[in-house]
Amino acid sequence: MILQSIKIFAHRGSKGTHPENTIAAFQKAAETGADGIEFDVHLSADGELIIIHDETLDRTTSLTGFVKDHTAQKLKTGDAGVKFSKQFIGERIPFLDDVFDWAKGNHLLMNIELKTDKLAYEGIEQKVIDAIRHHEMEQRVILSSFNHQSIEKVKLLAQDLERALLFEGIPENLEQILRDKQESGFHPDKNSLTEATNELAKTLGYKIRPWVANEETDIIKLAKMGVDVIMTDYPERAIKTVKSL
Ligand code: G3P
Ligand code: CA
Repeated sequence: MILQSIKIFAHRGSKGTHPENTIAAFQKAAETGADGIEFDVHLSADGELIIIHDETLDRTTSLTGFVKDHTAQKLKTGDAGVKFSKQFIGERIPFLDDVFDWAKGNHLLMNIELKTDKLAYEGIEQKVIDAIRHHEMEQRVILSSFNHQSIEKVKLLAQDLERALLFEGIPENLEQILRDKQESGFHPDKNSLTEATNELAKTLGYKIRPWVANEETDIIKLAKMGVDVIMTDYPERAIKTVKSL
């Protein structure tokens, strides 16, 4: 059946039930049978690759201020579980190396979002590519960003790696952008993805991976549309829903 080919990616790990962007959340995704995880990467003051969603530490960790203003050593002292629930006290802020080390024990795909849309993070693209090569994760990663220039840099530096364009809202000139960029992944927000847009991207050869569908009605709608991946905070629910179709 066509629906069986749809993959489920756990957004920021299993964000709905676990502290986002932590190994605990990624492990939960693996245990529920997700096909992949999505997570976000920033740079520390001393140029280490840090897995966290916000530019600042305050919302999700025990630390405060900007990620870019702290050294890796300081970030290692942060707790990324305590703000979610007491059950997760002691969960660390992962580095990209930690995630790749963890990933060696499973086969999940990894959508790495370069968070270069708000801050510049000079050289982050090359650092992520170096880490991918070092851990031999080339076949398991998709690099995405709202900053399409960042994806352009990845294309120049590592033609072989899978890349994707992130969108929040659909620009009027979408067709031109997709034709000009010639990337392989189209990652729109779920509310903006219409049947027509889905067909257009598909016709142009793009894999379509909308974010973030948590309600059954949205999951069913996207599955019936024939997208390639559904990103969700609740992979268990999404897997069950897709299987029931
Ligand atoms: O990559 C899709 C999605 O994660 C983008 O939005 O804010 O959750 O990083 P955000
Ligand atoms: Ca993200």
